[in-house]
Amino acid sequence: MDAVPRDLLRARETWRHRHLLDLERLTAEELTAILDVAAVIKQESDDCRRKLSWLAGRTVANLFFENSTRTRTSFSLAARRLGADTVEFSASGSSLSKGETFVDTARNIEAMNVDVMVVRHGTPGTPHLLAQQLECSVINAGDGAHEHPTQGLLDIFTIRERCGRIAGLTIALVGDIAHSRTARSNIWGLTKLGAHVIVCGPSTLVSRGWEKFGVEVAYDLDEILPRCDVLNLLRIQFERQATRPFPSVREYALLYAMDRRRLERAKPGIVIMAPGPINRGVEITPDVADGPHSVILDQVTNGLAVRMAVLWLLTR
Ligand code: CP
Repeated sequence: MDAVPRDLLRARETWRHRHLLDLERLTAEELTAILDVAAVIKQESDDCRRKLSWLAGRTVANLFFENSTRTRTSFSLAARRLGADTVEFSASGSSLSKGETFVDTARNIEAMNVDVMVVRHGTPGTPHLLAQQLECSVINAGDGAHEHPTQGLLDIFTIRERCGRIAGLTIALVGDIAHSRTARSNIWGLTKLGAHVIVCGPSTLVSRGWEKFGVEVAYDLDEILPRCDVLNLLRIQFERQATRPFPSVREYALLYAMDRRRLERAKPGIVIMAPGPINRGVEITPDVADGPHSVILDQVTNGLAVRMAVLWLLTR
């Protein structure tokens, strides 16, 4: 068994939550504790390459009722990098088709001595329901348009790593704020840690209602751009919309896509982020997505460190 650093043992002793369901309920101190644990784990595991044995004998189950590339793979690898066993469940091909309920499905998987259940579902609140029904820890891997807490944490971790701080930065979330669980988790986490958050996009996708949570609302990217330290470019979630929120994708791209022309008018050190999947040519052009300001793939690597940290803190 690899020795666990004393800081990590102490962090787990003082951690008081059994589940990670959202960032709305975490304090600034708790958010910082997760980021600090992730930073130690990233270092101890040689940038998440080296396998540790700290969760040997534990089992993590991935229950995904919506498609995923990054989150699912990342949780699976994070669990295995910590020495845990993993179980992969997909709705397609399961006994849900025979009438078994969602909760019964989860309870049966838990009965195989699962310690942590990672859940993605299209219905907001589904992980909260499971947290009430199960004995094991539950992690929200995205519930409808509600929250995606580990995405929020890995975004914040990446900003802190790149900029050295969160407090005092101006960070714009651009795009489909109305349907983005990533936007909500970013807003709760970043505002608690002292960032100035701007939500920017078409008025059909960005509500003035965010102002009451201390967030600036903007509709003109070119106007806010020179003030921004970080841009997080969110995908338009057509799959969650009944009607198209703007006349054409081309029109959206003209007003909101981050391209070379806009980059020239931004702060020299601006950090360009996107939670993925990205639609090249819609929210970001390929030269910017693959350029020196982009940390999009660093976000994915940091997702491993953050998810290892969350698994470590929740597993007793
Ligand atoms: N960012 C994110 O949640 O990606 P996936 O949908 O591929 O997991």
